[in-house]
Amino acid sequence: MATQTNRDFEGRAIIVTGAAGSIGHATACVLAERGADILLVDIDGEGLEARRAAVAAYGTRVETFRADVSRSEEVKAYVAAAQRAFGRIDGLFNNAGREGKVASVEEYDEAEFDRIIANNLRSIFLGMRHVIPVMLAQGGGAIVNTGSIASERGLAGACAYNASKHGVIGLTRTAAADVGPRGVRVNAVMPGVIDTPLLEKMLGTLFNGDIELGKRTLGKVAPQERIGQPREIGEVVAFLLSPAASFVNGAAWAVDGGALCTIRH
Ligand SMILES: NC(=O)c1ccc[n+]([C@@H]2O[C@H](COP(=O)([O-])OP(=O)(O)OC[C@H]3O[C@@H](n4cnc5c(N)ncnc54)[C@H](O)[C@@H]3O)[C@@H](O)[C@H]2O)c1
Repeated sequence: MATQTNRDFEGRAIIVTGAAGSIGHATACVLAERGADILLVDIDGEGLEARRAAVAAYGTRVETFRADVSRSEEVKAYVAAAQRAFGRIDGLFNNAGREGKVASVEEYDEAEFDRIIANNLRSIFLGMRHVIPVMLAQGGGAIVNTGSIASERGLAGACAYNASKHGVIGLTRTAAADVGPRGVRVNAVMPGVIDTPLLEKMLGTLFNGDIELGKRTLGKVAPQERIGQPREIGEVVAFLLSPAASFVNGAAWAVDGGALCTIRH
């Protein structure tokens, strides 16, 4: 029997940041498949262009915009580009992030700490700061911010990343309280261990270059005993951005195969 794709995003415009990356790209594909027009945003302009065709293949309007999401002027510019392209912004997947250097807290480079906080946390604030006024003027919208299982647990060697991802949840909850009464929902996803280049970079350092050993080892932190795929995050993000999640607000959803809520032995 032929399966029918849900087209619940038809006529909606969504911004996806980190769209040259794995989770952003997979999510953009899920959203486009369901009918959304999409603005793909990333600091990696070539990566964006390389990803565009796969998203556009679903037949919706797809635009790209190169921006550093930690800089206010560039965030304003991507918001303006979405308005120019689509006339509205129904959703923001505030997802761009990077892992930063790996070092124990007492050795962690101070400038790197500031860079990662700006890259992963200030960017989330700025995205909401500049998209929410558009949503309020329209009468509503939905935002999903990307946290991590590192939003709820310490991860050795990654103090700046950890602090930024804990901060993402605080920003999400505060924004939900601020704008919930005015029709904008704000939630977060907390991906577990997901099969992406970002993970491979981290594993390379943590497991002395043996990335496959890293994947097997980290897979075991979840009862499903595997690492996740980017599309498994995208499906949850699409749900949270959709009207089906109309009473989900201020939530931080773990998409981690059960890693955060279990003790493995
Ligand atoms: N991969 C995992 O296991 C995992 C787990 C938990 C959380 N996350 C989070 O998921 C999000 C997506 O990561 P991914 O795994 O797809 O990694 P990825 O490296 O494939 O994608 C991240 C993208 O963000 C972009 N980016 C980074 N800083 C930017 C900036 N300042 N401005 C614009 N673009 C910027 C990068 O260019 C890249 O394309 C990140 O926030 C990451 O922290 C990933």
